[in-house]
Amino acid sequence: MADNYLEKKMEQYRGGSATVAKLKNSLAGLLLKNRSTRGYDSTFKVRKDQLQRIVAVNTKLASARNRQLLRFKLVTGEDAGMVLPHISMGVGLSELSLPLPGCEPNAFIVVCSAEEPRNSTYIDLGISVQSMLLQAVEIGLNGLCIMSFDAEAITKELALPYKPLMVVAIGKGAEKIELVDIPADGNHGYFRKDGVHYVPKLTVDELIIE
Ligand SMILES: Cc1cc2nc3c(=O)[nH]c(=O)nc-3n(C[C@H](O)[C@H](O)[C@H](O)COP(=O)(O)O)c2cc1C
Repeated sequence: MADNYLEKKMEQYRGGSATVAKLKNSLAGLLLKNRSTRGYDSTFKVRKDQLQRIVAVNTKLASARNRQLLRFKLVTGEDAGMVLPHISMGVGLSELSLPLPGCEPNAFIVVCSAEEPRNSTYIDLGISVQSMLLQAVEIGLNGLCIMSFDAEAITKELALPYKPLMVVAIGKGAEKIELVDIPADGNHGYFRKDGVHYVPKLTVDELIIE
C-alpha cells in the first residue's frame, strides 16, 4: 500500500470538486454529493416519474422480517404547498428561517408505515430514506430527510391512510455544501460562512473503537 494511501482516501472523503468529478457515480461520490439540502432551484420542477424512480429503490432493499411495511406518497407541483408550511428545516440555523424565500423544494416523498411502527420499522425507514437519497443524487437531484414535521397536519392535507414517519424533500440543489473536521471545541453543529454550508464530520479514526 502506498505511503500516502490513507491521506488520499481522506482527501477523497472530504472531497474537493476535482475529486468529486473523478469519483462520479461511485458509492464514495454519491455519498459525498448526498448532502442535506435546504435550498433548491425553484425553476426546476421535479416530475412524478423522477419520484417514482427514486421510490423504486425500495423494491430491492433489506427489511426486517421482509415485512416491507413502508408506503410512499408522492407530492409534486402545486401540492407541495400542502406540505411546506408543516415542515421544519435547519433548526441549527433558526435565525435564517430556512428555506430562504424562492428556494423552497417543490417535491416531497412522504414515507408512511402501513402498520403501527415498531423499532424495526424505523430501521427500515433509515435504510429506505438513505437509499432513496442516493438514487436522487445519481439522477442529478438532491434531498433532505425531515423528521421535524407536523404529522397530523400532513396526514390531513394529503388525506394519508397511514401514519407518516418522514418527509423527504427532493429538488435540484442550489447550495454549496462542504464537509469539514469537527472543530477543537467538539461542536458537531453545521454552520454557514461566506455562502458555504459546512458540515463537521468525525474521522474514521474517531469512529473506530480501539
Ligand atoms: C433521522 C434524521 C432526521 C432529520 N430531520 C431533519 C429535519 O427535520 N430538518 C432538517 O433540516 N434536517 C434534518 N435532518 C438532516 C440533518 O440535519 C443532517 O443529516 C445533518 O445536518 C448532517 O448533514 P448531512 O446530511 O449533509 O451530512 C435529519 C437527518 C436525519 C438522519
